[in-house]
Amino acid sequence: MAFEESYELLETVSPTVEKLMADHLDRRTDWYAHEFVPWEKGRSYIDEPWDPSHASVSPEVQTSLVLNLLTEDNLPSYHHEIAAHFEPDSVYGRWTNRWSAEEAQHSIALRSHLLVSRNCDPRALEEDRMATMAAGFSTPYSNPIEVFAYTSAQELATRVSHRNAGKISDDETAFEIMRRIAIDENHHFVFYKGVVAAMLRENPSLVLKPIFNVLSSFEMPGIGIPGFVRRAVDIAKVGIYNFRIHSDRVVQPVLKDWGIEKITGLTNEAAELQEKIMEIPSRLIRKAEIFERRMGITLA
Ligand SMILES: [Fe+2]
Ligand SMILES: [Fe+2]
Repeated sequence: MAFEESYELLETVSPTVEKLMADHLDRRTDWYAHEFVPWEKGRSYIDEPWDPSHASVSPEVQTSLVLNLLTEDNLPSYHHEIAAHFEPDSVYGRWTNRWSAEEAQHSIALRSHLLVSRNCDPRALEEDRMATMAAGFSTPYSNPIEVFAYTSAQELATRVSHRNAGKISDDETAFEIMRRIAIDENHHFVFYKGVVAAMLRENPSLVLKPIFNVLSSFEMPGIGIPGFVRRAVDIAKVGIYNFRIHSDRVVQPVLKDWGIEKITGLTNEAAELQEKIMEIPSRLIRKAEIFERRMGITLA
């Protein structure tokens, strides 16, 4: 693939990316996890070891909060995956550091709440964190444009998943923490999709291939978490995240946002990819229907 051309494109759009980063810093308000977590409800795990009966939210909610936390825990791997593509003092390197600082707060907030509220087994959580981080995470993407296509979809996916987990939690603190985290994920989504949009305006024929590669093979970053498939099925069943949500709330909105269907003046190869990209949502819906039939899920 046109590797050098991709880096040249990144260089060309870097003034727009500077602006996107400045807008992000203006827009985002700082928040402090300790102000959300009711510490006064915490009890000693030495005097009173954890027991499943201590949990106050449903097993599905426990699964989803833990899965979302373990996904956030793997941040060092995500940072490495992204930062390895860029010069540290470029706008891309500076953004990646700032983004990582914001992301780190998500696991701090979620872990604090889960430990204070006793809504997870603290030993199992720690063992799973160790296993998750030791396994690490890597994507099959090597082109820097793919990084931005992936992070666009991934940030929107985590925004939806965190928000949905908070909504079904029936727990005021979890709702508020997940709402706050989802706002951050949305800000990140706005940045990353803005970078892709700037590159599409400049050279759409070059950018469609990375978009196709990413959206046709997208996996959630939690794939290395112990028992991920079982946990993912649980959260799919309760409607926190599944193929239908991925199609309706992630893939279709990003395609619309980038105006993929309306792009003209493409090379023949890119025009073919444009068609293939536009078929991805219906392919996902077919997968969703198979899953729903298998699980006996009927949609209202
Ligand atoms: Fe996050
Ligand atoms: Fe994020």
